[in-house]
Amino acid sequence: MNIRRQLEERLSAALLAAVGKPMPAMVAPAAKAEFGDYQANGIMAAAKAAKTNPRKLAEAVLAKVDLSGLSEKVEIAGPGFINIHLRNEFLTAGVNALAADARLGVPPPDRPQRVVVDYSAPNLAKEMHVGHLRSTIIGDCLANLLVFTGQDVTRQNHVGDWGTQFGMLLAYMDRLGQSGQSADISDLEEFYRSSKALFDSDEDFARTARDYVVRLQAGDEHCRRNWESFLDQSLRHCEEIYQALGVRLTRADVYGESAYNADLPKVVGDLRAKGLLKESQGAQCVFLDEFKDAEGLPLPVIVQKSDGGYLYATTDLAAIRYRVGTLHADRILYVTGSPQALHFAQVFAVARKADFAPGDVQLEHIGFGSMLGPDGKPFKTRAGGTVKLMELLDEAKKRAYELVTGKNAADVAAGRANELDEQQRREVARAVGIGAVKYADLSQNRTSDYVFSFEKMLALDGNTAPYMQYAYARVMSIFRKAGLEVESVQASPIQLDQPQERALGLKLLQFSEVIDSVAANCQPNLLCSYLYDLARDFTGFYEACPVLDSPEPVRSSRLALSAGAARVIRTGLDLLGIQTVEQM
Ligand code: ARG
Repeated sequence: MNIRRQLEERLSAALLAAVGKPMPAMVAPAAKAEFGDYQANGIMAAAKAAKTNPRKLAEAVLAKVDLSGLSEKVEIAGPGFINIHLRNEFLTAGVNALAADARLGVPPPDRPQRVVVDYSAPNLAKEMHVGHLRSTIIGDCLANLLVFTGQDVTRQNHVGDWGTQFGMLLAYMDRLGQSGQSADISDLEEFYRSSKALFDSDEDFARTARDYVVRLQAGDEHCRRNWESFLDQSLRHCEEIYQALGVRLTRADVYGESAYNADLPKVVGDLRAKGLLKESQGAQCVFLDEFKDAEGLPLPVIVQKSDGGYLYATTDLAAIRYRVGTLHADRILYVTGSPQALHFAQVFAVARKADFAPGDVQLEHIGFGSMLGPDGKPFKTRAGGTVKLMELLDEAKKRAYELVTGKNAADVAAGRANELDEQQRREVARAVGIGAVKYADLSQNRTSDYVFSFEKMLALDGNTAPYMQYAYARVMSIFRKAGLEVESVQASPIQLDQPQERALGLKLLQFSEVIDSVAANCQPNLLCSYLYDLARDFTGFYEACPVLDSPEPVRSSRLALSAGAARVIRTGLDLLGIQTVEQM
């Protein structure tokens, strides 16, 4: 049940009747309790457009709107806001329905969309770096969330497994083999660096490397086999990271650049047949009027170089054809850093022109900012090298272990918690450490840069994973104390008599609104803020409303309300890819 949408539909209908033009009433949860539960903010803009007085227009809207059943009081405030106070019976019915619903009030779609989520996509010639960490975390969250909403999701790991660098790496593998050394690529970064150094300094080797590219392209048996073994080892390294992160990508989701190799000439042929190609300095280009260079001249999208080679953009055009034509995608999300914004804008524009993607297929670049070090510069090791992701995650777990151990000792001393043994603390530390890294990323507005800080992400207060995990464990402690299961109490009738019960109930009902927004705008930080607010509303409820010491039927009602909070927090964190723990 999406209350916001229901209100918006009814108020927008009244607004249409009042001004004769469709204008959005723009309903949002009220920022303060004194503004009611929801507030319509669109009246002022509508009045401006209709050249009328906003308060008068608000009155006209209220005269026409039908909010019966939903609200008990509406009032006009300030320059023309409409404050809406919902009826308690309406909220109570909603909360009871949510408690009985396995989907927590999120309705299944009328018709599922096929959504392709393109994320992680490391370059397999090198080690995965922090840019891919962000893509992996954000992309996995979006895929989880879309699955939860009932969409038909295909994860695509568009790995970089093709191109001239592989000629160099294969030549280097053979060079080591001939000198009796085994090609140890366990340190990919080191392997890449040594082969690149040789490539740059040794003309003979560089020639061999180029020759290997040609052999690989031509399907040479030996080259193919080594290439496959290289990719396998490199992917295994990625999978260790995925596993450590609890990311749901598998081998079956890998569909890399090489998979489109045979399609590239067809893409160019198609573009030519459609009259979209122009030759410029020997290269095949599509010129798009909507993209201009500094001098105002149309920018070319190069799809084939003068030497016949293809480019990153050509592969992405082939990928669009495949995703639309074979996977039948209705919507494709590309989770890569913001610097690739122009690349995708151009690829999308060409794909539209060439009709690789009809107008009703949504193509979206889900860009994100950089992860910065404490100095505010792109995240690097002290020596300026790339940070090994596994070491980063290990460090997070180590610090989380210290946090969990200290916190548990303090809680035991204060009589608030049971003592956790070594193994329990290790498990909690893994959930908290990994959760902290992911939550720190997801809770940022994804388009901004953010400073990676272990101290901040592991703080027990503030909008962090440990705070949320602790909040969940605290809800669960009620059930542990009472010897009850969440599932066994969730169906008891819920009453919302106290203001804190009402606030918590309303917040639970807003879960589906938040899920809707994140599914549409791909902004996981909205879900994080929502969960944080929910945890605080739960605290407010818990401090004001005794649960286990209340007489029946209040006790059962409050237990059921707590069960709802536990389920929404657990589900929300699960969609973010963050594990909950029962005790902390
Ligand atoms: N491999 C690319 C990189 O490391 C990311 C690929 C993203 N996906 C795509 N369809 N282009 O930057």
